[in-house]
Amino acid sequence: VEPQLPFQTVRPTPEHDALVILDQTLLPEREEERTLETLEEMAEAIRLLRVRGAPLLGVFGAWALAVLAERARTGEIGDSKGLLSHLREAASTLEETRPTAVNLAWALERMLRVAESVVSREGDAAAVSAALLAEARAIHHQDREMCRRMGEHALTLLGDDDAPLTLMTHCNAGALATGGMGSALSPVYLAHDGGRKVRVFADETRPLLQGSRLTAWELTRSGVEVTVVTDGMGAPLLRRGEVDAVVVGSDRIAANGDVANKIGTYGLALLAREHGVPFYVLAPTSTVDLECADGDAIPIEERDPEEVREGFGRRTAPEGAAVWNPAFDVTPARLVSAIVTEEGVVRPPFDEGLGDAVERARRTSEAARRENVAP
Ligand code: MRU
Repeated sequence: VEPQLPFQTVRPTPEHDALVILDQTLLPEREEERTLETLEEMAEAIRLLRVRGAPLLGVFGAWALAVLAERARTGEIGDSKGLLSHLREAASTLEETRPTAVNLAWALERMLRVAESVVSREGDAAAVSAALLAEARAIHHQDREMCRRMGEHALTLLGDDDAPLTLMTHCNAGALATGGMGSALSPVYLAHDGGRKVRVFADETRPLLQGSRLTAWELTRSGVEVTVVTDGMGAPLLRRGEVDAVVVGSDRIAANGDVANKIGTYGLALLAREHGVPFYVLAPTSTVDLECADGDAIPIEERDPEEVREGFGRRTAPEGAAVWNPAFDVTPARLVSAIVTEEGVVRPPFDEGLGDAVERARRTSEAARRENVAP
């Protein structure tokens, strides 16, 4: 049974003409929803990290196209071909917002393929819109399922069911970052729900504090014991020998198993290796990009230097200081103990196992489409 989460990250309005998101920039001080109606509002929500986390960006992108189709169809664009070119433009605007998480491009591409196939079968604008709503719902549902399955597979790596478990994580790869209960945090929720004693150390995650603002918020809301540490505290913490494993999510995994994730992940992987602590990456197959041979091919987003120069509501570096602000880094595959997808656990060398997992996921989702049910 899936643990119930006390908030919703994204949902369409009942009329399917707008999206409602939990605005993650306001957490943990305020839990406020925000309604997004236009393409510009949706693109801005991604850029400003009101909505974030690789799998959630995919789910959000899917709903965004569905809602934009419905708005256009009932507004100024009545014909299906005009609607398709409108959607192609919207998809490219959304895709340009953030380059690293491949799930966004993956979901937009999947949605466009559905729209194209309805148009090629001479479907009208209403049929395009209906098919897109169904596909967005399926993507959201599948993401929820994938989270649960990743959690179950990960628990097979995390020892005896009754033993207390202490994990460390970086950034936020929980329910706030997905359409379900999270990637890296899914085994945490499953174990906690099953009555196991679980404790999580959450890295603060500078500069935007997704660890302390978001991971600590969602874990405390669910009654999971969480301890926040600043990013420099990992070494002495791991040296104490209390952490059973480090678990993180990913924004894109290359074919060889190199893993892009929030800046600071690579450093944590090095520390884990030095201290003999397993380093597990949990991500759905939609995060695996077989077209990137290795981590060098993954585009790394660089963000506004002001995020570093000004934090916590005050100036934190002089205006004249240069700042380098990459949002992600790449952890080399040799530092990764295992990659857990919804299809199971992949051990190094990763090439073959990752390819197999992606292929199995593709077959499952095609079979489901043929039967016209969500897998
Ligand atoms: O910049 P963010 O907050 O979108 O970065 C998020 C991360 O790096 C997560 O760890 C990653 O997307 C995996 S989320 C399940």
